[in-house]
Amino acid sequence: MMITSSSSSSNSAVAAAPSPLIPTIILLLLCLPGLFYLAPHILPPPPTPPISFPEELEDLSLFRRAAAVESNANNPSRPKSHLGSTNSKPKIAFLFLTNSDLHFAPLWEQFFNGNKSNRHLYSLYVHADPTVKTKIKSPGGIFSEDRFITAKKTHRGTATLVSAARRLLATALLDDPSNAFFTLISQHCVPLHSFNFFYDTLFEVKSHQIAELRHLKYKSFIEIISKDPNILDRYNARGKGVMVPEVPFNKFRMGSQFFTLTRRHALLVVSDRRLWKKFKLNCLRPQSCYPEEHYFPTLLSMEDPEGCTGYTLTRVNWTDSVNGHPHTYYPPEVSPELVYKLRQSNFTNSYMFARKFSPDCLQPLMNMATEVIFRD
Ligand SMILES: *[C@@H]1O[C@H](CO)[C@@H](O)[C@H](O)[C@H]1NC(C)=O
Ligand SMILES: *[C@@H]1O[C@H](CO)[C@@H](O)[C@H](O)[C@H]1NC(C)=O
Ligand SMILES: *[C@@H]1O[C@H](CO)[C@@H](O)[C@H](O)[C@H]1NC(C)=O
Repeated sequence: MMITSSSSSSNSAVAAAPSPLIPTIILLLLCLPGLFYLAPHILPPPPTPPISFPEELEDLSLFRRAAAVESNANNPSRPKSHLGSTNSKPKIAFLFLTNSDLHFAPLWEQFFNGNKSNRHLYSLYVHADPTVKTKIKSPGGIFSEDRFITAKKTHRGTATLVSAARRLLATALLDDPSNAFFTLISQHCVPLHSFNFFYDTLFEVKSHQIAELRHLKYKSFIEIISKDPNILDRYNARGKGVMVPEVPFNKFRMGSQFFTLTRRHALLVVSDRRLWKKFKLNCLRPQSCYPEEHYFPTLLSMEDPEGCTGYTLTRVNWTDSVNGHPHTYYPPEVSPELVYKLRQSNFTNSYMFARKFSPDCLQPLMNMATEVIFRD
């Protein structure tokens, strides 16, 4: 499209010129660098729209409110929040980020409700791209209408996925002071263990830690990688030199989009303005950008590296990845052996979740839910 319009404008310039040759050559020379620059960008879909100013303001007001609630809760002159009291158990907030149906809703339903006494140990929030009709698979169930937060359009390869995750974090911070951990999940993720197993892992229930040390002890489960063949490309995806001074190259990190953050880190993320200013910038090359894989690991490793495990609890298979998409599992691959294999990790904790699974894996997964997935 852009080539057509620039060549037609050069035609009209030629027609109007008294001596056609020289202006044509000059125009061609002027257009050449532009064409070289545009050529690699013409084939992929057109550049994605940035986050609009009104959208940004709306988010900012939400993030400010979330940060304010927290500082009020920490004010000693105020009544103690649920988190600090001993008679309310801390919860895990599950943040579902989707731009399609929640294919595995029945499996998650069983994950949460298999044990009725867990009801007060979790909360649930869904950010569903409003431009895509998300069917609510379980009306009246755990994915009821009121669990869907105010959402905005998301585009792959842009900072909109970061904004969506921050909206989920802010809403969950505001909604319930008992939310102590925040776990990001996509519609392609499935559980590999029971809820109780996950809960005990996060809160180290079995290790009898002293309650007062909680805030210091708990760590965020987030992958933080500093060495990767693509990291320089990713760093320069918004143009050379634009990330400094806020984000020097040696502070730039990479990691899985899917994490479990402590409340302290969730607050840190929604309070950040400094790094966001850079990460929200439009990507010149969306195919080597993926802000959601960089913003969170970079921010947390700059602010509190000791407070992070450096690994994620969500298993993903990057073998033979195509177009930046990891391996997708289909029904013939789904077996108890796969679940056992996907749990295995090189880190202290086994994997709790895995992606990506095709929607038609639901039935084979349901068939072995009780006997395999939720048996620890
Ligand atoms: C059910 O959940 C409670 C805590 O919420 C836990 O103590 C108990 O062990 C769980 N039961 C099973 C069968 O997992
Ligand atoms: C990862 O994906 C590859 C194919 O891309 C497959 O051969 C391999 O078995 C998968 N690994 C696991 C642990 O599922
Ligand atoms: C664990 O580390 C080994 C050796 O680096 C690697 O081959 C294997 O894929 C790793 N396993 C997982 C689950 O990441």
